[in-house]
Amino acid sequence: MLLHAFLSISLTTLIRESIGKITASVGEINQTYDFVVVGGGTAGLVIANRLTEEDFTVLVLEAGGDHSEDMNITIPFFVTNAAPFTEYDWNYTTVPQNNLENRQLAYPRGFLLGGSSSINSMAYTRASKEDWDLFAKETGDGGWSWDAMQKYIFRNEKLTPPADHRNTAGEINPAIHGHHGLNKDSLPGFIDSFDRMVIQVSNELPETFPYNSDPNGPVGLVGTVSNGSRSSSATSYLAPQFASRRNLDVLIGARVTRILPSPNSTAKRPNFSVVEFLQDGMNWTTTASKEIILSAGSINTPAILLHSGIGDASELLAMNITPIVNASSVGKNLTDHLFVSNTWLVNSTETFERFTRNATKLAELVEEWNNSRTGPLVNHISNQLAWLRLPDIDPAEDPSAGPNSPHLELLIANGGAIPPPPEGNFMRISAALVTPTSRGAVTINSSNPLDPPLINPNFLDTEFDKSAIRSAVLTARKFTTAPVFSDYIISSTTNSTTDAEIDAYIQSMAESVDHPVSTAKMSPVDAEYGVVDPDLKVKGVTGLRIIDASVLPHIPAAHTQVSVYLFAERGSDLIKKSW
Ligand SMILES: Cc1cc2nc3c(=O)[nH]c(=O)nc-3n(C[C@H](O)[C@H](O)[C@H](O)COP(=O)(O)OP(=O)(O)OC[C@H]3O[C@@H](n4cnc5c(N)ncnc54)[C@H](O)[C@@H]3O)c2cc1C
Ligand SMILES: *[C@@H]1O[C@H](CO)[C@@H](O)[C@H](O)[C@H]1NC(C)=O
Ligand SMILES: *[C@@H]1O[C@H](CO)[C@@H](O)[C@H](O)[C@H]1NC(C)=O
Ligand SMILES: *[C@@H]1O[C@H](CO)[C@@H](O)[C@H](O)[C@H]1NC(C)=O
Ligand SMILES: *[C@@H]1O[C@H](CO)[C@@H](O)[C@H](O)[C@H]1NC(C)=O
Ligand SMILES: *[C@@H]1O[C@H](CO)[C@@H](O)[C@H](O)[C@H]1NC(C)=O
Ligand SMILES: *[C@@H]1O[C@H](CO)[C@@H](O)[C@H](O)[C@H]1NC(C)=O
Ligand SMILES: *[C@@H]1O[C@H](CO)[C@@H](O)[C@H](O)[C@H]1NC(C)=O
Ligand SMILES: *[C@@H]1O[C@H](CO)[C@@H](O)[C@H](O)[C@H]1NC(C)=O
Ligand SMILES: *[C@@H]1O[C@H](CO)[C@@H](O)[C@H](O)[C@H]1NC(C)=O
Ligand SMILES: *[C@@H]1O[C@H](CO)[C@@H](O)[C@H](O)[C@H]1NC(C)=O
Ligand SMILES: *[C@@H]1O[C@H](CO)[C@@H](O)[C@H](O)[C@H]1NC(C)=O
Ligand SMILES: *[C@@H]1O[C@H](CO)[C@@H](O)[C@H](O)[C@H]1NC(C)=O
Repeated sequence: MLLHAFLSISLTTLIRESIGKITASVGEINQTYDFVVVGGGTAGLVIANRLTEEDFTVLVLEAGGDHSEDMNITIPFFVTNAAPFTEYDWNYTTVPQNNLENRQLAYPRGFLLGGSSSINSMAYTRASKEDWDLFAKETGDGGWSWDAMQKYIFRNEKLTPPADHRNTAGEINPAIHGHHGLNKDSLPGFIDSFDRMVIQVSNELPETFPYNSDPNGPVGLVGTVSNGSRSSSATSYLAPQFASRRNLDVLIGARVTRILPSPNSTAKRPNFSVVEFLQDGMNWTTTASKEIILSAGSINTPAILLHSGIGDASELLAMNITPIVNASSVGKNLTDHLFVSNTWLVNSTETFERFTRNATKLAELVEEWNNSRTGPLVNHISNQLAWLRLPDIDPAEDPSAGPNSPHLELLIANGGAIPPPPEGNFMRISAALVTPTSRGAVTINSSNPLDPPLINPNFLDTEFDKSAIRSAVLTARKFTTAPVFSDYIISSTTNSTTDAEIDAYIQSMAESVDHPVSTAKMSPVDAEYGVVDPDLKVKGVTGLRIIDASVLPHIPAAHTQVSVYLFAERGSDLIKKSW
């Protein structure tokens, strides 16, 4: 960001700058701050922003770099260049998945300012009222209910016009959207004839696929895109006017290895205040005089806790880590959505293969994007979603948050795989299970905090999940039976028909939707399980909160970034109230 060059001058002149900064130089960082935030990701930058509205000093330690100007991050359609296995990714894979042919799935996590909000697919979905009311019920804190959280929706969201500036009447209900928040979003900014075919399905198969203009209302897809560019927590909550606050420092390239109790804290109630981190091959510490906030995400937050002696005591001892707190829920209850990609060969030359397979055309579109922030690259691959309930669900076995919440999701795209096969034009429907009942875990297998954690989402561990994802695939196929596609679809790229064949297809194809949650679950104050109280304080210690996707009490039937933004907005308020 812009402040960078200016600040290296302050270093060479050895004058201690009293202005805040984003820096890669540990020499510019103070020894003590009121709050140290571990992870400059989706939640971490919300907290940094909101706490520095007050007279608190805040340090953010982010392991990755600042890539907010990089076209692979800013151009929405280039989301597949952002991850997995890139310079912006932690490059994690799962352990072999028993129910998915023992495949080790890619498990991307943002390794840059903005965290996963800088590499995600940008779908803006809030989850249902029932999901939020369940959060309140699961924690015994009505402050997490849908009604109580409304003000944070409006603090977070800023709805902006789509890149093509078309009239969006009928596509969205502006009254239920925020217009003055920090995180910008918009409807898809490039519409073509395929979008009209998808909407036509809602006229032709209205029982299964009724039209719903705005899934964020009582339930067009809004994305965290504005003026044709990605909006992440780095571009919004850490925009230059916030990054330059004198009470905020952001250190990039700083990988936190452990957190430690303060030297004078008692064993009975350890007071965490010291943060140990690695930068440029050297280990450093910094101190939080008020609180440490862990915001390293659903995988690295439990890993840092475990390496710091906060976890199941016997599991820690087996790794030669001295337990400080016997917190047996740390890393457990990992829950994630999974999806299966389904593609059809189509009789069209207007799919996105026209530019994913043609470098000349792609260069022209990048030029258009550069000049005017318009064209197909402003879209984030799927312009439409469908949310569906399983038709014959037994209420006693229904894992959804309520009768108005979905089990399944379809993500519909005007093209197939990226990069494309050598020939053909495609349409793709990714079919996802959004109420999984399988539970996995994040564990460690050494005492070295630099070793990658073991990630086991344990996909398709239950009969419900196996049958529900099969229903999702069948529902995707039903979508393609609408008459509007009869002269459009040439053939399916798979010919599995029996349940066994479909299951085999699922096992060979399923992938994570990259929505891991609940590895440091919030639970009621007096619960026997869980890692944080409803005020996000870690049970059994002082000086430590967790604010990121790991604290979600259950996986919402929605993409998870909005939940994380809202948890972080309220979490910041809870911290302010404490101090
Ligand atoms: C590829 C992908 C696509 C997705 N698509 C969507 C979507 O379309 N819509 C949606 O709503 N959600 C989507 N999600 C999910 C959503 O982005 C995440 O749920 C959300 O961003 C998680 O926020 P977080 O704050 O918990 O973690 P993150 O945003 O991942 O932040 C964690 C931060 O901590 C840093 N960090 C980690 N460990 C350390 C350490 N040891 N020291 C210092 N720093 C550290 C990381 O580098 C990162 O910056 C997607 C996620 C991915 C990965
Ligand atoms: C963007 O991603 C593409 C594809 O992975 C890669 O070739 C290119 O080098 C990346 N660009 C930058 C600036 O990193
Ligand atoms: C992931 O791999 C890329 C490329 O191989 C690398 O640049 C990046 O630093 C790796 N991420 C981490 C966290 O090591
Ligand atoms: C760092 O310390 C200096 C000198 O005491 C002070 O002026 C500055 O405000 C501090 N920075 C932050 C972000 O607290
Ligand atoms: C620890 O020391 C700090 C000052 O360094 C003091 O403010 C705090 O009260 C002490 N805490 C305990 C538990 O003794
Ligand atoms: C820094 O800490 C890490 C993790 O504890 C350790 O593996 C490494 O050896 C340390 N490096 C130095 C230079 O001390
Ligand atoms: C915890 O330690 C910090 C840093 O030493 C200190 O400022 C704070 O007062 C301590 N809190 C408690 C409850 O002891
Ligand atoms: C840790 O807590 C778990 C349950 O929460 C309990 O079963 C176990 O015995 C405890 N271990 C130790 C060493 O206290
Ligand atoms: C997982 O979550 C469930 C429901 O919240 C809870 O009953 C269970 O104890 C949790 N498991 C662990 C190991 O924390
Ligand atoms: C594709 O559509 C054209 C008419 O638009 C038709 O002539 C042609 O036969 C179709 N091709 C296939 C493979 O269906
Ligand atoms: C690739 O795109 C260029 C520029 O739009 C176009 O002239 C050319 O015909 C395209 N090539 C193919 C094979 O479609
Ligand atoms: C949108 O992007 C264009 C092209 O970079 C720029 O000229 C324009 O000022 C931007 N508009 C807004 C509202 O940011
Ligand atoms: C369809 O089934 C046949 C016979 O089993 C097989 O050879 C072919 O590869 C399959 N096609 C696809 C697209 O899976």
